Amino acid sequence: MIKVDTRITVHDKEFCFKKDWKNYCVSNVVPEQTDPLRVYNFELMKKYGDGFFYLIFELPNIGVLNHIYQTKEEYRKSVHLRSEQKKLFESKNISYDVSEPYEIHDSVLTKDQYYDLHTADLIPLDIKINVDSFLLEIERYNDNFFRWGDKYKEYPRYAIPLINLNGRLDNDPEPACYPLDRWDFLQTGLEDNAENFTNFLFNMSHFEKNNDILFETDFKKHTEVMNLKSLEVLEPIKKYMIRSCIFKWHSMGHLVPHFDTWHPTKWLRLWGTTHPEKMKLRYKVGDNGYVENKLTNKFEKYAPAQGVQAGRLYLHDSLKWHDAFAFDDNVYHFFIALNVDSYKTIEELKIN
Ligand SMILES: [Fe+2]
Repeated sequence: MIKVDTRITVHDKEFCFKKDWKNYCVSNVVPEQTDPLRVYNFELMKKYGDGFFYLIFELPNIGVLNHIYQTKEEYRKSVHLRSEQKKLFESKNISYDVSEPYEIHDSVLTKDQYYDLHTADLIPLDIKINVDSFLLEIERYNDNFFRWGDKYKEYPRYAIPLINLNGRLDNDPEPACYPLDRWDFLQTGLEDNAENFTNFLFNMSHFEKNNDILFETDFKKHTEVMNLKSLEVLEPIKKYMIRSCIFKWHSMGHLVPHFDTWHPTKWLRLWGTTHPEKMKLRYKVGDNGYVENKLTNKFEKYAPAQGVQAGRLYLHDSLKWHDAFAFDDNVYHFFIALNVDSYKTIEELKIN
């Protein structure tokens, strides 16, 4: 992939948030539907995934456009359009500094690759954990489960890491047992409010090499829980596993509508449960329903995945909005992420 970074400085102006900087540039210089470079990049975003093109805002007045092209040819076609855009910005006394193009080798799946693999919401894999053995074995770790994250402590959601940063079970706090966007946000020290959180989320990309931000792929060390005999069936996927946990939920443990992955994807997700009759994993099936989505501000319809077998692992389309809830106690589920080198193996493990 070829990447080119463009640093745009709007002199004599100050902006609080990325959206303000962006609105200023869009309304004064580069309208969405007509600017030729933007139109060209939008086509590629549609084809390969939005995340190949992103903007990082630096206080108080700098925006860095990050453009990632799949081929040299696609990059070459953008060069002239970029120099036209440069003229436009400079005519408004806005600095526009373009880097030399450079190659990057991040392992990612394009949209097509992702959907070639995810042909349904939940696809059974030829991996089945023996639930009776697992329930007996996991008992010895009863005291090693962490509360999930730092919010909603009124709901009984616990987790123990299978793969974390250092292989230990006594980390306190344990980032592997947090919603990762929440963990990363807390590390910034910014005031904990919805506006700061949203701005933080929309100003990051997994292509940024920022050591303070953790992504699923940063978690690589196996904990001793991986040695459970009942988990030996994970052998074919072990070497690909990144941040993974076992969840233990009791009645009312739940996750509200969310998604965990976006295009282009750097990880796959597997899911399974010990007690499909005591919990539901549901996917969004429509815009009109009874489930409030706090992020889209809509009431949406969700339908439970059908035919889930106890102990079986499934390839889970976590790019799709989903929620989950338990209505009995001591329900375990397996929350497993894999790096994309697992692509072929997962393809082979799918039971069609
Ligand atoms: Fe999820």
